[in-house]
Amino acid sequence: MSLFAKKSINTLLAQADSSDKGLKKTLNAGNLVALGIGAIIGAGLFVRTAAAAGEHAGPAVTLSFIVAAIGCAFAGLCYAEFASMIPIAGSAYTYAYATMGELIAWIIGWALILEYALGAATVSISWSEYLNILVGKSIPYEWCHSPFESFKDTSGVMHHGIMNIPALFILLLLSLLLIKGTQESARVNMIIVIIKVSIVIVFIVIGWNFINPANHAHYLIPADAPPAILPNGSEYTYTDFFRHGWGGVLTGAGIVFFAFIGFDAVSTTAQEAKNPKKDMPIGILGSLAICTVLYILFSYVLTGVAPYTDFVKAGKEASVAYAIQHYMTNFGWLAKLVSFAILLGFSSVILVMLMGQSRVFYTMSSDGLLPKIFSDLHPKFRTPYKSNMVLFVFVGLFAAFVPVSVAGDLTSIGTLFAFVLVCLGVMILRKKEPGLKRPFKTPLVPLVPILGMLVCAAMIVGLPGETLLSALIWMILGLVIYFAYSRKNSKLQSPGDALPKASNFE
Ligand code: ALA
Repeated sequence: MSLFAKKSINTLLAQADSSDKGLKKTLNAGNLVALGIGAIIGAGLFVRTAAAAGEHAGPAVTLSFIVAAIGCAFAGLCYAEFASMIPIAGSAYTYAYATMGELIAWIIGWALILEYALGAATVSISWSEYLNILVGKSIPYEWCHSPFESFKDTSGVMHHGIMNIPALFILLLLSLLLIKGTQESARVNMIIVIIKVSIVIVFIVIGWNFINPANHAHYLIPADAPPAILPNGSEYTYTDFFRHGWGGVLTGAGIVFFAFIGFDAVSTTAQEAKNPKKDMPIGILGSLAICTVLYILFSYVLTGVAPYTDFVKAGKEASVAYAIQHYMTNFGWLAKLVSFAILLGFSSVILVMLMGQSRVFYTMSSDGLLPKIFSDLHPKFRTPYKSNMVLFVFVGLFAAFVPVSVAGDLTSIGTLFAFVLVCLGVMILRKKEPGLKRPFKTPLVPLVPILGMLVCAAMIVGLPGETLLSALIWMILGLVIYFAYSRKNSKLQSPGDALPKASNFE
């Protein structure tokens, strides 16, 4: 059969309906919005906001958030149409299988590994950094850094990372929770989301009184802004086109885009939603809207409390706690609370990313493109427990041995690539199957999908060259596996082999 063999929408819908013994349907609209927020608010807000403000956008990082949110909103509207129409666990992978055929579906499934698995690894490394800050840097450098990192202490002794144990610990803990059950995981996620959103709001409300108008006087960094002096005495200048004005805002958007990653993870749980047709769009677009508002307010306050140049100097690490400690007198307790909330916030991001990845693998395995182990369900918990365990090992290897910067940009590229193809998929399906029931319709098609593709493609092009090269190598590896294994085992490609029912996979 052809590389572009497609799964019919009716087969997909039948699969979703036949899942009595498959994944449990336990999630309501509230859980879905919470899952979205759980995956969205994390390192992007608490770490990257300060980096984008300090190095590129200044206080106008709020505008960077708006630009990135617009790109995500276009893609989010397209996701919402698909997720309400095809409530199957595979998200963008499934949508591509129905619209562009098996090869593209495989490619997108492979790219989603960058988003979810590497996303979880990236945030677990940030989790380890914050834990170390919270315990007064008492974890030995060797045991919380990858072998590719080293540092010279004040007495001139070099330390080399060996492996990141705290990152492995949090991954193990959350993998076990996921194995225990989706509802249990959603409940833990809900508690974390309430705490982290409350603390973000508390920071916004209290911090508002500490905004120094002088810090917002030049909202966009002027071309002649004086350089920031770094701790090692060197200068960080703002003359480059991408370090001031609108050029800086756009580069900032590429950096803070990471903060929005995760709203699409809601769609990977479509098969576990009680009422996906109505609740999927609420989960995807609701979480995106809530986070956008919080992000804009949060970054407005952060850059109002501390001058943006501080964030390339001393305040680079743990920027929020730094701003509170240095500029919000008498609110030391809030700095501690924020650090605690950040640690919790990172945990929920990792949780939902790991969940999303296992659900994409579940569907790819049900289709025969990945080995059966990824769709074996636990006899009691009905969660893909073997997949969760394999994932722990795979993600753990990255978390333990790879530096955070490499994993972070690869996460963004995998996500943006998926967004582009989902936007394209909406246009294709509207043409090919105009009569299908669409509980949620993306407005202004083809304008919205085209704009979504353009904005996301522009953000891909803006990523560093090495990231693009690493992503290309990853995709080539994926193609080798497709032709060596998946194509031969594809249920769609082998005649006479019925398409899987979820109940076959216990
Ligand atoms: N959006 C997630 C975060 O910022 C990936 O951590």
